[in-house]
This record gives sequence, C-alpha cells and structure tokens, in this order.
Amino acid sequence: MRALPELPSLARVLWRGDGDLLSLVPAKAYRQPMCTLGQTRRSIVMVSDPVLVRRIMTEDMDRYPKSDLMQEALRPLVGDSIFVSGGATWDRQRRMINPAFSHMKLSLAFGPMRDAVQDALPALDRSAAAGEQLSLDLLTSHLTADAITRTVFSTPLESRTAHAVFESFLTFERSVAQVRLLPMIFGKAWADTPQRPEVLAACVRIRELLGELVDAHATRNTEDIAASMREARDSAGTPFSREELIDQIGVMFLAGHETTASALTWILYLISMAPAVRDRLLAEIGRVAGDDPISFEHVREMSYVRNVFRETLRLYPPITFMPRVALETARIGGRTVKRGALIMISPWVMHRHMKLWKEPDAFDPDRFSPERESDLPEWGYIPFGQGPRICVGQAFAHTEAVLMLAELLRRYDFAPLAPGAVRPVARLTTRPEAQILCRITRRREAPRA
Ligand code: HEM
Repeated sequence: MRALPELPSLARVLWRGDGDLLSLVPAKAYRQPMCTLGQTRRSIVMVSDPVLVRRIMTEDMDRYPKSDLMQEALRPLVGDSIFVSGGATWDRQRRMINPAFSHMKLSLAFGPMRDAVQDALPALDRSAAAGEQLSLDLLTSHLTADAITRTVFSTPLESRTAHAVFESFLTFERSVAQVRLLPMIFGKAWADTPQRPEVLAACVRIRELLGELVDAHATRNTEDIAASMREARDSAGTPFSREELIDQIGVMFLAGHETTASALTWILYLISMAPAVRDRLLAEIGRVAGDDPISFEHVREMSYVRNVFRETLRLYPPITFMPRVALETARIGGRTVKRGALIMISPWVMHRHMKLWKEPDAFDPDRFSPERESDLPEWGYIPFGQGPRICVGQAFAHTEAVLMLAELLRRYDFAPLAPGAVRPVARLTTRPEAQILCRITRRREAPRA
C-alpha cells in the first residue's frame, strides 16, 4: 500500500502534477476512522468509519450532496443528470431510470453483452497467434464500450458514430481528472473553476454524437436501455426531453463502461499472479458451462467467478472516491466539519482499512464465500456506493463482468509483461498509471472439476 505522511503526500501530488488523487491519501487514513487531507484552503475530511459513512450516504444524504467540484467537472458532459443531480431532480430521474435495469431488462441485455465479447474473439485469436503485445486497458475498455453501445442503442461499437463517441470519451477521460486537484487544494467551496478548452471541446463533440445516436434510435423499434428511457414517464406523465436523454445516456457511457473496464483489467492482472485462483476459476467455468456458449443462467451459477470479481472490487474499487460537500457546518464523529468542507468517502481506503479487514492487502476471494461472509465488516464494503444512490447498474455490471471474464479466461492465458511495475492511480476510475501490456496465448483445454 503506498501512503506517506500528510505533508509529503501533498507535496508529491503537486510535484508530480499527474492528477492522481490516491497520492493524496496519507498513511494514517488507513488506520483512523476520520482524518483531514493536508493543508488545503477548504477543509477536506476523509471519513472511513462505516457507521458515519452510512449515515452520510443514507439518512443525511440531502445535507451532503455530490461535491461541487465533481458536478462542475461533469456538467459540460452530462448536464444535471442522475450521477450528479440532487433532491427532487435526482428523485424524478432515478424513478424514471430504474426500470431500464430491472431483472427482466437485464436478461434482455445479456444477448448483446455476449455478442460484444464473441465478436472480439477473432481479433484476440489473431493477436495470440502472432504473439503480439496488447494493452489490457484498451482491450477491456473496448469490450465494455461495445457492451454499452449494444445494450443502450442496439448498435455495435463498429458503427461510425458509436466508435467516434468511444474515441471522444477517451480524450475526455484523459484530460478531465488532471485539472481537478489544484482547485481542490487551493480553491474555495463553490468557486467557479473553468474547464480546459480541450475538455469542453470533447464534451461538445460527445453530445453531438450522442444526439445523432438518440435521433437514429428514435426511428427504430428496439428493446434496449435507450428505449426504456424513452418510454419512461414522471409522475406528471412527462417523458425525458431530447437534451435530457442525451444527459442520461451520457451518464450510462461514463458510469457504465470505464468502471467495468477498470474492474476487468485488475481482475486479469491479479489472476495472472495467482495461479491457484486461476485454476479454480477454470474448473468452475468448465463445470458450469462446459464448452457451451455461456448463458444468463450459467453466470448466476458461477459463484467463485463472482467472488473473484467482488474481491477485486475490494482491492481495486473502480470508483476510488465518492466526494460529497457539507451544505452546513455539522458534527461528524465528534468533530466539527465546516460548511463547504469536502467529505471524501473512499471505497479504496475503506476496503484496505486496517481496523476493518484482516490482511487488508491480501487477494483472498474466499472472504466472500458463504462460510466467511459473516466476517465481512458491516457497511465496510461499498464498491457500488450505498443507500438510495447505490449504483443503478450494479446487477448489470456483475453479469457483464462474470460473463466476460468466463469467456476470456476459458480461451486465453493472460501474461502481463511487467507485473511488478504496475502502479494504481485514481483518475476518473482506478487505473494502472501506465497501460498493462500483456501477451495472450490460446488455452488448449480447461481443467474440469
Ligand atoms: C464494476 C462496475 C461499476 C462500479 C464499481 C460502479 C460504481 C458506482 C458507484 C460507487 C456509484 C455511486 C457513486 C456515489 O454515490 O458517489 C455508482 C453510481 C451510478 N452508476 Fe455505477 N458502477 C459500475 C457500473 C455501472 C454500470 C454498468 C452502469 C450503467 C450501465 C452504472 C450506472 C451508474 C449510475 C447511473 C449511477 C448514479 C446513480 C444515482 O446517483 O442514483 N454503473 N456506480
């Protein structure tokens, strides 16, 4: 675990200038229920006590809305949509969006998810045969972006517009996180922080392209996430406007593709260093699905694959921080927290907290086995957030990750070229600092249980 005392960590972040919020976390954060982060202009308080975090994210959620910095960073892209909105606006949006993620809709989304991974296999076979290096990050990003365009719009990523959205998202993601640290350290609460021109340009481009996809979709009769959103009505019977649809669908791209891609990258990386885990995975996949195409029911039966996914989300939660802002001066855990303070809730820190976990840094998927589940810290495991704003795509992500992992693993062995050099950083999601390059080889036969 990389962590330094408070002042060196702040200095390092400024010196490196790479926008990595994880470097800001001091060593004491992994031992204490609450701590401050450095000498910043507005106070930044990290809260890691599960009971306090639970209260902030549930009954007190209206007193601690999403942070102003995050809202400002995302607004040019997704407006005042579900990921950033609050109060009655959020409540209306959440009610309208929930049905798109029902169990029934998820079973419909399964086919397009499977098509995304099946269509990727021929190119992967060619890479394996040629012994080429490939980037795990790009592979997983491409797969999950394809799954999102197919499940949202019934359009594969190969289509020109969908691919242009993907490319523009990459530009947005690379540049947006880098500008947020300085205002966070030196800025006042609710200050106006201008975005860099290239970020704004990427947002305009993405919204134009999403608009084209939304308009083309309106002329077709499909059963997908965009269709559910189009059919949704609020309590007054009003549908989302075209702009609102672009906002909400933008969120699905933003929240729904890089997150799962981050998780898949870390799983493949962790498994490459844990041959015993890999063998158990292969045995379960072989026992449940044999050589058949993996079905929705198979995914539900793959409990060990799911535990490996959960343990990876513990060690490498894709959403590293869930920042909130204190609307009023308040007492939290016996301390006074000033109006405008940033409240940092970090799944990363909570999931590696020494007071909550035995051997917090060890990769141990059996923590999630039924026999040991009662040892899990209550409210201490929150990769999808919690309370009313818990991730709407949680079941979608579980299904997608288990399916993709099972399909990829039973076919290929992934060997990163320099596993010892991998360093995690927090950008929009928890990512490796440099891409993880690997070689893949075709697997002959999966071990059977
Ligand atoms: C492994 C994959 C994923 C992880 C770890 C993840 C994590 C999270 C977390 C932590 C939050 C809450 C953020 C907060 O409270 O500040 C969230 C919210 C959200 N996620 Fe996910 N997510 C994943 C996949 C997805 C997918 C696949 C979708 C949609 C297709 C999605 C859509 C959303 C939306 C719309 C919200 C906002 C919900 C609200 O505020 O009401 N996520 N996600």
